Amino acid sequence: MPPGSHTHRVSNAQAHAELMTAALLVPALALLAVVLWRVARWYSWARVCARLPSPAGATWLMGHAKPVSDLRHHRMLLQWDGQVGPLYCIKVLWARVVVATHPAAIHQLLRATPGVDKAQITFGMINPLLSPKGHPSLFSASTHSPYWRLVRKGVAPGFSMTSLRGSFHHIQEVVAEVLATLHRLGPGQAFDVDNLLMRGTMDVIGRVGFDANFRAVEEFRAGPPLDGGGHAGQGPEGQDIFSIVTASMEEINRRWANPLRARYLWWLPEVRAAVRYWRAFQARMQQLAEDVRARSQPADSDQSIAAHLLRLRDPHTGQPLSVDRLVPEIATFFVAGMDTTAHTMAWTLYLVAQHPEVEQKLCAELDTLGLLAMEQRPEPRRVEWEDCGKLPYLSATIKVCFVSLAARSDRATASSCIKLRCAWHLPALSAAPRQHAALCSCSLTNTVHERLRLAAFAVAVALQ
Ligand code: HEM
Repeated sequence: MPPGSHTHRVSNAQAHAELMTAALLVPALALLAVVLWRVARWYSWARVCARLPSPAGATWLMGHAKPVSDLRHHRMLLQWDGQVGPLYCIKVLWARVVVATHPAAIHQLLRATPGVDKAQITFGMINPLLSPKGHPSLFSASTHSPYWRLVRKGVAPGFSMTSLRGSFHHIQEVVAEVLATLHRLGPGQAFDVDNLLMRGTMDVIGRVGFDANFRAVEEFRAGPPLDGGGHAGQGPEGQDIFSIVTASMEEINRRWANPLRARYLWWLPEVRAAVRYWRAFQARMQQLAEDVRARSQPADSDQSIAAHLLRLRDPHTGQPLSVDRLVPEIATFFVAGMDTTAHTMAWTLYLVAQHPEVEQKLCAELDTLGLLAMEQRPEPRRVEWEDCGKLPYLSATIKVCFVSLAARSDRATASSCIKLRCAWHLPALSAAPRQHAALCSCSLTNTVHERLRLAAFAVAVALQ
């Protein structure tokens, strides 16, 4: 054995051991730093939230998890708004969520927090419904991403007055179909107005946006109203596209209430049945995307959403959007536009029916333009594009109903400016006008104000 080789071996082993220790220590320290950073972040957020009121009923471990995991958690959010005001904090397990329930509060929050993004925990939930590959869409993509900007900027002209004017004939046709359905049903027949209006909206979006006729109004049958879960267990086979979309959305609502359904409860029969509806919806959207792609390059005058989507170029490849990317974009317009628009109309009709003096003024306005059906005029002329600008009272009524439904609380919560995170300031909220208390006890499902409250919830989560 050469002299010193033992010492040499020992120092080699020592160096090896030190290297191993360092190799373990560095990631362990990095992990510890991340954990400490997250705990510190959570702690500072919890301290911020402690300055906001919190509704009663939270348990030590679960917080408000139980009431918010109910399918109608938006109603709970509304109740809490009545208890503590339009801006409050709830605890869901370890997470603190700020809830803003009033449009004025949301407006102030968004203005005061430039750069606030869509919370992926809320918006990302919709990705597996809209796309088999889970691609984000205009609705769910981060507003900081070049993809969101591309699509948002690209399709915006599809909603311009010029574009809507050009496709108004589609709206006239759908309106004529809705009216024909009402004639067929006759007076005295009870039916789900909201369902018919959602079908009408679906047909309008299909025709105006994509030159596709889903014939949803044609498939309308008077029957009991859809009431969250109405399709469960039937399966999508043989069902019309409208039923497939509404059943698909039901599962999204359930996941928003209980996110565990997506990760851990996939084995439940009802979750698996819902996923079959998703596949059916995606198959229809895929078909539409392929039809749209197969059309020749759109003419410059074509202002439809389909044409705008076809004109987009992928920022990375310079190529048109692939069918994989078109599917979630097309699906978004149906999912985002259908119930929002239809519920606005349904609630407006409901509220007008509750206020005969308003109904009278509306009838007078329509009569002046020859648009009111009456004994002397059983078949009024059809509404033209130019009429839209000549109906100020109708227009104001829709806006008032919209705001009335979205807002209720007249309590100001924050009396002084609150700092949310490092750069997010929430100004003191001004008191909101008192709203119709009666509206809150209405029992129509999926109301507009509930939807908006969901949006408010989303904003709140985004602040997390
Ligand atoms: C009265 C009717 C409507 C209401 C109340 C409504 C409500 C909303 C709300 C609150 C958001 C924001 C969600 C968020 O980011 O927090 C939104 C986004 C969106 N809506 Fe609507 N919507 C209506 C009609 C429509 C229609 C008719 C369409 C399309 C045909 C549509 C397509 C979209 C899209 C694509 C987004 C995402 C926009 C983006 O992130 O840039 N909406 N809608």
